[in-house]
Amino acid sequence: MNNILVTGGAGFIGSNLTLELQARFPEARIVVVDDFRSGDFRNLRGFRGDFVTADVSRLDWSAQFRDLVFDAIFHEASITDTTVHDQALQSHDNIEGFRRLLRFAEPHQTPVVYASSAATYGICSGIQTEDQPAAPANVYAFSKVQLDNLAREQARRFPTWRIVGLRYFNVYGPLETHKGAAASMIYQLYRQMKSGKRPRVFRGGEQKRDFVYVKDVVALTLHALTASKRSGIFNCGSGHAFSFNEVIEALNRALGTRLEPEYFENPYSFYQPHTEADMQRVRSELEFTPRFTPATGIADYVALLERPSN
Ligand SMILES: NC(=O)c1ccc[n+]([C@@H]2O[C@H](COP(=O)([O-])OP(=O)(O)OC[C@H]3O[C@@H](n4cnc5c(N)ncnc54)[C@H](O)[C@@H]3O)[C@@H](O)[C@H]2O)c1
Repeated sequence: MNNILVTGGAGFIGSNLTLELQARFPEARIVVVDDFRSGDFRNLRGFRGDFVTADVSRLDWSAQFRDLVFDAIFHEASITDTTVHDQALQSHDNIEGFRRLLRFAEPHQTPVVYASSAATYGICSGIQTEDQPAAPANVYAFSKVQLDNLAREQARRFPTWRIVGLRYFNVYGPLETHKGAAASMIYQLYRQMKSGKRPRVFRGGEQKRDFVYVKDVVALTLHALTASKRSGIFNCGSGHAFSFNEVIEALNRALGTRLEPEYFENPYSFYQPHTEADMQRVRSELEFTPRFTPATGIADYVALLERPSN
């Protein structure tokens, strides 16, 4: 690949992806588009490519890039704070950004891999499969459903153009600290335990999440570009449901501590009891299996966080 575009490249997943692309394709021209609304330049330490500071939903893509034809586009830019309830803002910036990107990619049918979300499944329990109906519980999830709808519509109009959506589950790993309160629960609990405090979780601690390590997310995002024969929407999880109590156990093991959870009342009237990605379609159609379970991913992550440079 000679020319690669990454939107949202200053963010958590986008920066991991950008730096991995740079390592795999050292000669390629990599362009990041990000407006820093939730990203941080520190995530791109060592980046040698070009950076366009712009809002993807307002950018004039053709004027910006003129006759530059990309070999691949990875779309990670999105308002990611699910507590932003301004419906017009979430849907405008997330949906129109993707619409403009697709319009730009259409003439050359540039392959696109974009970030969808497990949030599209809504509040449900058990294993989530790609065919189950969307049930967005907030406007963030609604915007991701619209991305999936737009991608399906373009795929129907242009059967040879590959547009691949990945429904990321609960991603954790290096370069997420800039997200603050929106960083993964694994990182929040690590921070509490590291400072000697008991890790605080909702009463019982048995709610389960499919925690997926960012190294697997980046691997599947890159793999999907070449492995997919046609457009499609796929889950991107570890395929394991891990409870908050199990996360605390794994963190205690990795840190060499024995801190007991401190339970507190769940203030929400509804709360997702269980998420778990069905990874069957990814295994059979994309021939990809995640390398990390939540336990091995947490061990790897804590080892990185505990390095003296951190
Ligand atoms: N982290 C997760 O657990 C998770 C789960 C499901 C889906 N996702 C999706 O993965 C993608 C990356 O998320 P992340 O966790 O890295 O979040 P992040 O907030 O760290 O990264 C998002 C990046 O996009 C940029 N951005 C946002 N809106 C923009 C716009 N209109 N124009 C230009 N730049 C813009 C931000 O500045 C930021 O750098 C997002 O699309 C998110 O919805 C993440």
